[in-house]
Amino acid sequence: MIVTTNDLFRHAYGKYAVGAYNINNLEQTVGLFRGNLGKSRTNEEPVNPELAAPFIIQISRGARGYTDKRFLEAMIRTAEEVFPEAIFAVHLDHGTEETCYDSIDSGFYSSVMIDASHHDLEKNIEITRRVADRAHEKGIVVEAELGQLGGVEEDIVGSVCLTEPDQAAEFIQRSGCDSLAVAIGTSHGAYKFSGKQGLRMDRLAQIQKAVPADFPLVMHGSSSVPKEWVDRINKAGGKMKDSSGVPEDQYLPAARLGVCKVNIDTDGRLVWCAIYRETFRDKPEDFDPRTPGKVFMQAYAEYIAHKNQKLGSAGQLASVRKSLGK
Ligand code: G3H
Ligand code: 13P
Ligand code: ZN
Repeated sequence: MIVTTNDLFRHAYGKYAVGAYNINNLEQTVGLFRGNLGKSRTNEEPVNPELAAPFIIQISRGARGYTDKRFLEAMIRTAEEVFPEAIFAVHLDHGTEETCYDSIDSGFYSSVMIDASHHDLEKNIEITRRVADRAHEKGIVVEAELGQLGGVEEDIVGSVCLTEPDQAAEFIQRSGCDSLAVAIGTSHGAYKFSGKQGLRMDRLAQIQKAVPADFPLVMHGSSSVPKEWVDRINKAGGKMKDSSGVPEDQYLPAARLGVCKVNIDTDGRLVWCAIYRETFRDKPEDFDPRTPGKVFMQAYAEYIAHKNQKLGSAGQLASVRKSLGK
C-alpha cells in the first residue's frame, strides 16, 4: 500500500526513524521489499512481525535516467502486488522543479523532494512554495532542504554549512514544505568524516526546538559505510580508501530529536558491490546474471532488516497499519 511520507512520520515522530532507501534496479527493489517484511530468501516466506517495517522507496534523478523512468514505476507497482502487506511511500529524491512537477503529475509518487538548497534563502523559499502549492493540490507531500551537506570542517562548523535553527523555522512557515532536510554534518557517499568530525546533535536539538512542534526532520547522507562491507569489497579486488559513515547508534538519538526519515543509498551500493565482486571472484567460470543476483537479493534483504532494527522501525508495521485505519 502506497502512503505519503507524512502518514509514516506521524506514527514515527520522536520514537523511531523510517528508512528511505534508493533503488535503481530489480534486485534492489525485491531485496528492499523482502527486507522490510522480514523475509530474506524468497517472496513467499511468511512476514516476520518482529522485523516488518514501514519504509520509503526513493528514486533519484539518476535512477530515473538510468534506463527509462517508466520501468521503475512498473517494477514498484508489481512489487506492491507481490508484497501486498508492505506499507511504503514512493519518494522523488533530490528533485529539481521540473522533475518534481513531472513526478506530481505522474500520479505515482506520494512525496517529492525539491532540492533548492544551493540557492539563497529567498529563492529556496520561492521555489519550494511553488512546488508545495502544486503538490498539495494533488495530496502529495513535499520535502525541502535548508543548509548545505558536505564535509564540515571543525573550525567552520556553524558558519556556512549547517542549517540555522531560526532560518529553519522561517523557511517552514513561508515555504509550506511538509518535512525539512537539515544539514547537521552528514554528507553523501562513502567518505563522510575525517578527524574529529561527526554528527552535530547539538545543532539538531536547536533546530527541533525552533521549528513547529512535531515537524518532521530528515537526515540525508546517513549511510553507516560499514567496515565489514568495505573490507569485503577490497578483499575481492576493490580499491576503497579511508571510508567512514554515520554510526548506527546515532540513528535513534537523532529520531528522538525529530528526525523521522533517514536516507540510505551508499550502504546498499556497498552490499551490491561486495556480493557481485565476490561471486565472480569465487566462480570465475560463471557468467549467469542470476547467480550474484540471487545472493544479492538475500544479502540486501538481511541488511535492510538489520538497518531497520537500528532505526527502530523494525516491528512497527502492524501498529502503522492500525494508525492508518487499514
Ligand atoms: O543523494 C543522492 C543519492 O545517493 C542518489 O544518488 O544521484 O547517483 O542516484 P544518484
Ligand atoms: P548516503 O550517500 O549516505 O547513502 O546518502 C543517501 C542520500 O542522502 C540520498 O538522498
Ligand atoms: Zn540526499
